[in-house]
Amino acid sequence: MRDLPDFSSDNHAGAHPAVLDALAAANAGSTHAYGDDPWTTRATRLICDLLGCDRPVYFVYGGTGANVLGLQAMTRPHHGIICPETAHIAVDECGAPERFTGCKLLTVPTPDGKLTVEMLDGFQQREQSQHWTLPHVVSISQQTECGTIYTPAEVRALADAAHDVGWLLHMDGARLANAAVSLDCSPLTFTTDAGVDVVSVGGTKNGMVFGEAVVFCRADLADEFPNVRKQGMQLASKMRFIAAQFEALLTQGLWQENARKANAMAQRLYESIQADPGLQFKWPFQGNALFPILSPESLRSLQDQFVFETWIPEESVARWMTSWATTEAEVDGFVEAIRRAL
Ligand SMILES: Cc1ncc(COP(=O)(O)O)c(C=O)c1O
Repeated sequence: MRDLPDFSSDNHAGAHPAVLDALAAANAGSTHAYGDDPWTTRATRLICDLLGCDRPVYFVYGGTGANVLGLQAMTRPHHGIICPETAHIAVDECGAPERFTGCKLLTVPTPDGKLTVEMLDGFQQREQSQHWTLPHVVSISQQTECGTIYTPAEVRALADAAHDVGWLLHMDGARLANAAVSLDCSPLTFTTDAGVDVVSVGGTKNGMVFGEAVVFCRADLADEFPNVRKQGMQLASKMRFIAAQFEALLTQGLWQENARKANAMAQRLYESIQADPGLQFKWPFQGNALFPILSPESLRSLQDQFVFETWIPEESVARWMTSWATTEAEVDGFVEAIRRAL
C-alpha cells in the first residue's frame, strides 16, 4: 500500500464508521441464517421505500454478482444483452455475464458511456434469424463508467423503446447514490418510475465493507430468484451483516450524505482546474469521476505523488475519482500539484 493521497477509485476508500458500528452491533447474539433475520427484514423495507414499495429485494456479496444474477433472471441463453462498449459488464467482469447467463453481450460504441434510443434502432430493425442471438435486455449503468449520468427522461425513453419490442431494461446502479445526488432526485425517479425492470443497487462504493442488492422493479422477474442466487453462489449465510450495513446507510440519509461528499469533492476539484487552458476532459463531469486528458509527462509526474488510474493509456486519459472519505485538504493538495504539473 502506497501512503499517497488516493484519487483512484471509490473502492479504495475504507468503510464509513457508522457502517462498522452497525456491523459490531449486529454481531451481538445469534439469529437465523440466509436472510431470515430482523436486519434483512428492516433493510429490505428501507430499500423498498427508496425504490418504490413492495419490490422483491435480494442482498448479494458483490457488484459483479448483482449484475450477473439480475441479468440471468431476465434472460435465456439464446438472448443478447445490449450495453455500451464501456459497460462494467462488458469490460470488467471477466466474462462472467456471458458465462453465467449464456447470453452474448451486444456492445455499442457511445461518445460518453450512455446508450440512446437511436443506438437501439439497428437492433430493433434487424430481421430475426434463427442463426442470431435475440436481443432481449438493454443494460445501462447509472452513473456510467465514463462518469456521466442519465436523466430520468433518458432512462424512460430507453425503457419505452425496450418495452415496445418486448425487451427489458437493466440498470447497474453501483453508483446509484452518486447519480441521485447529482440529479437532486430520489433514485425512484430514474428506476421504478422510469420503467427500469431490474436494478443492481450499490453499497460498497457508498461506504459499505461489501454488499449490494438486486431489486426487481418488475416483481414477476424475481420468480425463482432465491434459487438463482444460491446457484450463483451469492447467498450469504450470515446475511444480517450485509443487511446491517445497508440499514446503516439508509437510515437517516447516510447514503445521501456519503454520495454528496464524494460528488462535492469531485466538484471542488473540477471547479479549481477546469478553466486551465492546458486541460481538457474526455467526458463531461457529472458525478464523482473526472477523466482529464494529460500529457504523458504530467500524468507520470502526478502519479509519482498521487494514486490514480490511467484510464485510456493510448490517449493519455486518466481517471480521478473521489469517495465519501476524500477530504478538502486532499483535493486542495491535488489541485496545487495539478497546476504545477500543467
Ligand atoms: C459500474 C460498476 N458496476 C459494478 C461494479 C461492481 O463490481 P465488483 O464486483 O467489484 O463489486 C463496479 C466496480 O467497480 C462498477 O464500477
